[in-house]
Amino acid sequence: MSTVLITGTSRGIGLELATQYAADGWCVLATCRNPKTAKVLQKVQRQYPDTVYLHALDVGDHEQIERLGTFLREESVDILINNAGWGEKCATLADVTYESWEKSMRINAYATLKMAQVFLEQLARSRKKTIVTISSQMGSIAQNYSGTRYAYRASKATVNMIVKTLSVDLSPKGIVVTSLHPGWVKTDLGGSRALISVQESVSGLRQVIGRLTQAESGRFFAYDGTEIPW
Ligand SMILES: NC(=O)c1ccc[n+]([C@@H]2O[C@H](COP(=O)([O-])OP(=O)(O)OC[C@H]3O[C@@H](n4cnc5c(N)ncnc54)[C@H](OP(=O)(O)O)[C@@H]3O)[C@@H](O)[C@H]2O)c1
Repeated sequence: MSTVLITGTSRGIGLELATQYAADGWCVLATCRNPKTAKVLQKVQRQYPDTVYLHALDVGDHEQIERLGTFLREESVDILINNAGWGEKCATLADVTYESWEKSMRINAYATLKMAQVFLEQLARSRKKTIVTISSQMGSIAQNYSGTRYAYRASKATVNMIVKTLSVDLSPKGIVVTSLHPGWVKTDLGGSRALISVQESVSGLRQVIGRLTQAESGRFFAYDGTEIPW
C-alpha cells in the first residue's frame, strides 16, 4: 500500500485529495490545523478507519512539523503533498500589508522547505519518492499579466524556486519534486466565480502526480498536464 502525506486537509483541495486517495486504497496521513473541528475529514476517517490517519499540523509552526516528523519517523511516505495555503483577499498596490506578506511566505513557501527537511528520510525510503507542492499560476513570473496580489504571488514564486532547488539537491536520492497549479477552483480561497470544481481539479492533479518521473522533476504543471513556464 502506498502512503500519501497531505497538509491542509480540513477543506477545499486538501480535503478532496485526502478523500480521493482514501477511496483509491491509499494510506492517507491527513494533516490539518484542528482535526477536532474538521467534521467532513472526520467522516472520511470513519469511512476508512484502517487507512486514514488524522494529525494536527499548523505548517506555519516549525516545531509542530518537527514533532510530527518524529512521531512518523518509522513511516515510508511515497508522496508528500504540500497543499496548505493562504492568500490575502484584496491586495492592490495601495493596500499591501507586510503582515500578510510574512504570513503568505510562512504558509505558502517556507513550509514546503521545512516539510522536505523533516520528512526526507521517510520519502527516501519509499517507492515513489515524490514531493508535490500545490503552487499557483499566480507564482509564474512569465505568466503574470494581471498584476495585484503582491504577497500571494511572491510567496508562490518563492515556493517555485524552493521546488526547483529541491529537485536539483534531491535528485541523487531519486526524489522527484514538482510544483502543480490546481486551476481556478471553487473553494473558500478560489471563490464561487472560479472555473472548475474541486473534484475536477483533484482528479486532474492525481493523474499528473501519478505520471511523474525524474524527467518531470523541477518543472511546473497545471492540473490538466500542461506545463507552466516559471
Ligand atoms: N482555489 C484556487 O483557485 C487555487 C488556485 C491556485 C492555487 N491554489 C492553492 O491550492 C491550495 C489549496 O487551496 P484551496 O483552494 O483548497 O483553499 P482553501 O479552501 O482556503 O483551503 C486552505 C487550506 O489550507 C489550510 N491552511 C491554511 N493555513 C494553514 C496553516 N498555517 N497550517 C495548516 N493548514 C493551513 C486551511 O486550513 P484551516 O481550515 O485550518 O484554515 C485549509 O485546509 C493552496 O496552496 C492554494 O494557494 C488554489
